Amino acid sequence: MKVLGIETSCDETGVAIYDSEFGIIADQLYSQVEMHAEFGGVVPELASRDHIRKLLPLVELALKEANCEPADLDAIAYTFGPGLVGALLVGSTLASTLAWSWGIPAIPVHHMEGHLLAPMLEEESPEFPFVALLVSGGHTQLVDVRAVGEYKLLGESLDDAAGEAFDKTAKLLGLGYPGGPSVAAAAENGQVDKFKFPRPMTDRPGLDFSFSGLKTHTLTLANSQRNEKGEIDEQTVADIAAGFQEAVADTLVIKCRRALEQTGHKQLVLAGGVAANMRLREKLAQESEKKDWALHYPRSKFCTDNGAMIAYVGALRAFDRLKAVDPLKAVEHRFDNYDISVVPRFPIDQLESV
Ligand code: KG4
Ligand code: ZN
Repeated sequence: MKVLGIETSCDETGVAIYDSEFGIIADQLYSQVEMHAEFGGVVPELASRDHIRKLLPLVELALKEANCEPADLDAIAYTFGPGLVGALLVGSTLASTLAWSWGIPAIPVHHMEGHLLAPMLEEESPEFPFVALLVSGGHTQLVDVRAVGEYKLLGESLDDAAGEAFDKTAKLLGLGYPGGPSVAAAAENGQVDKFKFPRPMTDRPGLDFSFSGLKTHTLTLANSQRNEKGEIDEQTVADIAAGFQEAVADTLVIKCRRALEQTGHKQLVLAGGVAANMRLREKLAQESEKKDWALHYPRSKFCTDNGAMIAYVGALRAFDRLKAVDPLKAVEHRFDNYDISVVPRFPIDQLESV
């Protein structure tokens, strides 16, 4: 089975083809980062317009890369949510239109399920059950994963997501967009313990997160370090970046430890854009070795948004759909009839199991 996957939930246009026999056979990505960098963050209307420009050419490139004709495809998967509504509509419209005209199913895929199952594309993939730490620009969640579609939310951020905290910290330090990579790069030259940072919500039980206080702490600290011209010297920026990154990583590690103790699972999956953070990976690897857990994360390009994870989940769900005896099993938001519908917010634990 070959499934074309389309991802347009935010500022990356991703198109890939997953082959159930050979894995990912095409992977095309266009990042709008440069366009949004000028504004210091994603401008939703510009994102939608750029997806319109890039999506169809990327579909053509993906077919060429995989040496495929449309007739070779069995389904088209697309991100139906969560995400920016205009951006999602571009992917959903093209996916449903192509699927209708090629006579194959259009499979709506949940963006965070894409992130969560992306490590399955690696050679050493995790086995169910496991705990997943999903850390992206819009979400910070701990999920108990029992099977495909069997997700129990253990905890999540009550305010800013971890990626959002990186992005806002980068902005106030005058570093580039997106914030995660630029804070991480600055942190390389910084001293982690030059300034003190809190590890929010780790002094009380529970698996929820809160990063807005850490952001305010960083803002106050940065302002206290500005000279009369309002500038902060490069070394201080690096020290603040290092201290901030360490605090986020420590907080995430503490909560992962709790989640694994609570569930009794022995495997941890790290996914989403912030999973590309080397310091976080390093700290989780140290903790995993100490506690004898297996740690899995996708290769860096499958941590941030991409079409491959959508094609993969689409294949899992298409396979389930094609073998379903009862066509009414096709539920609204899950398996549509070429409806062009998107859902900006959709809790992952409300997905159907496969
Ligand atoms: O998963 P993703 O590509 O998009 C969303 O679904 O949100 O995640 C993007 C987020 C951004 O906030 C970005 O700053 C963060 O992931 N990110 C990182 C790194 N690379 C991307 N955060 C920390 N360290 C990184 N190396
Ligand atoms: Zn994402």
